[in-house]
Amino acid sequence: MHREKAPMKVLTEDADSIIIYFSRSGNTENLVKMICNEMNADMLELTLSNPYPEDYDKTVERANEERDSGDFPEINTDMPDLS
Ligand SMILES: Cc1cc2nc3c(=O)[nH]c(=O)nc-3n(C[C@H](O)[C@H](O)[C@H](O)COP(=O)(O)O)c2cc1C
Repeated sequence: MHREKAPMKVLTEDADSIIIYFSRSGNTENLVKMICNEMNADMLELTLSNPYPEDYDKTVERANEERDSGDFPEINTDMPDLS
């Protein structure tokens, strides 16, 4: 489930839109690719400074804590100029 791969980054000059997404196990990323095949969109995968654990139950535990506290994880993706 957990993926060790370089984050997806497709940034072009002529895109109409960009899909910026987070995907822990790849399902969202597959949908993003399908959408990008249908439209002229760039894509950028968000990554976290402190990634979620591989273990699903531990991930859910951490996510619940983050939701309760409002202390959400830091994103370490360099954002492109979206203007
Ligand atoms: C912490 C956590 C909370 C989730 N909450 C929901 C939920 O409320 N409803 C739901 O349908 N799926 C929920 N899921 C399942 C994910 O949304 C589902 O597995 C999704 O396809 C994962 O996408 P990804 O592969 O891009 O990470 C949750 C998964 C995790 C890890």
